[in-house]
Amino acid sequence: MGKDVIIALDFSSAEEVYSFLDKFQDVKPFVKIGMELFYAEGPSIVREIKKRGHKIFLDLKLHDIPNTVKKAMSVLSRLDVDICNLHAAGSVPMMKAAVEGLTREDGSRPLLIAVTLLTSIDSEIMERDVLIEKPIDSVIMQYAENARKAGLDGVVCSALEAGKVHSVCGESFLTVTPGIRFADGDVGDQKRVMTPAGARAAGADYIVVGRAVTASEDPVAAYKRCVSEFVG
Ligand code: C5P
Repeated sequence: MGKDVIIALDFSSAEEVYSFLDKFQDVKPFVKIGMELFYAEGPSIVREIKKRGHKIFLDLKLHDIPNTVKKAMSVLSRLDVDICNLHAAGSVPMMKAAVEGLTREDGSRPLLIAVTLLTSIDSEIMERDVLIEKPIDSVIMQYAENARKAGLDGVVCSALEAGKVHSVCGESFLTVTPGIRFADGDVGDQKRVMTPAGARAAGADYIVVGRAVTASEDPVAAYKRCVSEFVG
């Protein structure tokens, strides 16, 4: 898979999702299904969106003991999604078990990427609640390196970190970057944002775009603008 724009389907019901996707006639965007939609609608929403011809990033961020994650990933591999994810904080043994669970009998599997540190965690929370006193940047890079060692394909990170992740983990290690806004758009609750063109210059492999597309008056035009700025 090459560079692509992934639309975050941050909706709470199947009806909202279908009426959004129905607007796209001549293109089938790569989409992200998160916890809210998955917990509301279950695996059938994944099958239905796949049947409509979309690639899917299933953003469930697994984090549990290795055996449980392995079994859960094995169930997810049957859903035929294109990207799954987990928390790198679950450790290298958990990530290795996830790769095993996700791998089908014929050796194929969806791409597997790790969340390093959530963007809601800052150095104060790390020190006070998680008792980690190292600089955030070095924790993110260590988690990315752990993910690479465990056999994962990449990480979710800010576009601002994409270049460093590539220099530590290699150019082929995928960087999937949320926090994308148009230069003339609303930032909303995101703290560190980048434009699609900025993410491209930073070397991101995929951008995840939510409200800049879903809340636009013309989502199809907004999506196409993202693609032309990011992919070219
Ligand atoms: O609307 P917006 O473009 O901010 O949505 C970004 C999407 O990416 C949301 O689905 C959000 O949960 C997800 N995400 C994020 N930051 C992370 C990880 C995921 O914004 N660090």
